[in-house]
Amino acid sequence: MLGIMAALPQELGDLIAGMRAAGEVETLTLGQREYTVGEAHGVRCVVTLARIGKVAAATTASALIHAFNVDAVLFTGVAGGVHADVQVGDIVVADALLQHDLDASPLFPRFEVPLLDKSRFEASAELSAALFSACEAFLADEGAALQSHFAVVRPRVHRGLVVSGDRFIASHEGLMALRDALPDALAVEMEGAALAQVCYEYGVPCAVVRTISDTADAAAPASFAEFLAAIASTYSSGVLSRFLRAQT
Ligand code: ADE
Repeated sequence: MLGIMAALPQELGDLIAGMRAAGEVETLTLGQREYTVGEAHGVRCVVTLARIGKVAAATTASALIHAFNVDAVLFTGVAGGVHADVQVGDIVVADALLQHDLDASPLFPRFEVPLLDKSRFEASAELSAALFSACEAFLADEGAALQSHFAVVRPRVHRGLVVSGDRFIASHEGLMALRDALPDALAVEMEGAALAQVCYEYGVPCAVVRTISDTADAAAPASFAEFLAAIASTYSSGVLSRFLRAQT
């Protein structure tokens, strides 16, 4: 069983509708979240909206592991681009995740999760490679149609560090502070590293895929809202369908 999480409905695309159309689904409510169990593109899944933030992601991941006994967890959604090479419309697949707002210094090094001796949590290499292929296939198939939406010449897929924190980054200063502290960070969001920590602690593989909705600067709130309304769901549906079909 694969757990699939997103923060907001647009970030799940047509996944739950597709599961309902494909066959019987069961819906359970736990801790104010709905969990939909069924088959998506031939894969047995439990799909849920975690809502926004690290606590929301951590509690939901924990429920997926304990109540549904998932074999792996995938998070899909949008993120702010941090690295100068990462543009709106690009996709980032996380190799590793870190909590950029975690700082117990001087007791522990900045970013380190106290008593775990670790600041970077690796995503599953196998799942991430499959996600990367699904993203490339999606952009190859749909890239020309998507280009008209963005300033970038051609949307691209990146792999690397994704950072998470309980803060929407929407200023030049905030963006520069992230770049200074974490020069290899590609994208910023608010859930992935919390999921990755929980999955690490329970030995469950996880992966995170994020479409870039904004570049974490002063234009981020408007860019985020527009992206979410216009196209986030097209990306999620396109990537998830290709990823899931390749798993069967
Ligand atoms: N998710 C999408 N854009 C974001 C941003 N700029 N900061 C934090 N999370 C985000």
